Amino acid sequence: MIKDIERKLVSEEEIDEITSRIASQIYDDYRDSTRRLVLICILKGSLMFTSELMKKLRLPLEIEFMKVSSYGSKTTSSGMINIHLDIKREDLSDADFIIVEDIIDSGKTLSHLVQYLKEKGACSVKTCTLLDKPSRRTVDFVPDYCGRVIPDKFVVGFGLDYAEKYRNLPYVGILKPEVYEN
Ligand code: PRP
Repeated sequence: MIKDIERKLVSEEEIDEITSRIASQIYDDYRDSTRRLVLICILKGSLMFTSELMKKLRLPLEIEFMKVSSYGSKTTSSGMINIHLDIKREDLSDADFIIVEDIIDSGKTLSHLVQYLKEKGACSVKTCTLLDKPSRRTVDFVPDYCGRVIPDKFVVGFGLDYAEKYRNLPYVGILKPEVYEN
């Protein structure tokens, strides 16, 4: 697995710093709230980031999981998202939601999810991502909490995959092009 990595892009230490910083930002934003706080982990990529983040959040919180995919090509800006796993609660009006992602690329997934949760009656919806590739946007979208802006490289690890592999790397690395070009 490690032989397929060109170089580390975000080290274990930097991931630790990022999660501490974002946990502190979220704490400051929600410490005075009387509503329930719900983190939504978007499977599968956000699994590791969500678990690190929630360990550091010194607030009462709840966790939900969703699994989604974009309709059609990742490079087109139109379309909707398929929801393969939805949150189970009926009433969203008594809670603040933070959607947690591993990476934002086109921006379609998060912009549709924010709209979807608001239409279902969520009291508030914010977004949080470990990595952001703004150069790949096809829709206008800015996350509320961002770990690190990265260049348009093929990255894997810390939840991110290529063909379902590499998710368990403890850092984010750039995949050697020969791995996906063959
Ligand atoms: C990735 C990522 C986001 C989405 C971002 O998920 O975790 O959910 O793509 O892309 P976008 O900004 O262009 O919408 P992916 O579909 O690879 O699924 P996975 O998390 O299960 O690997």
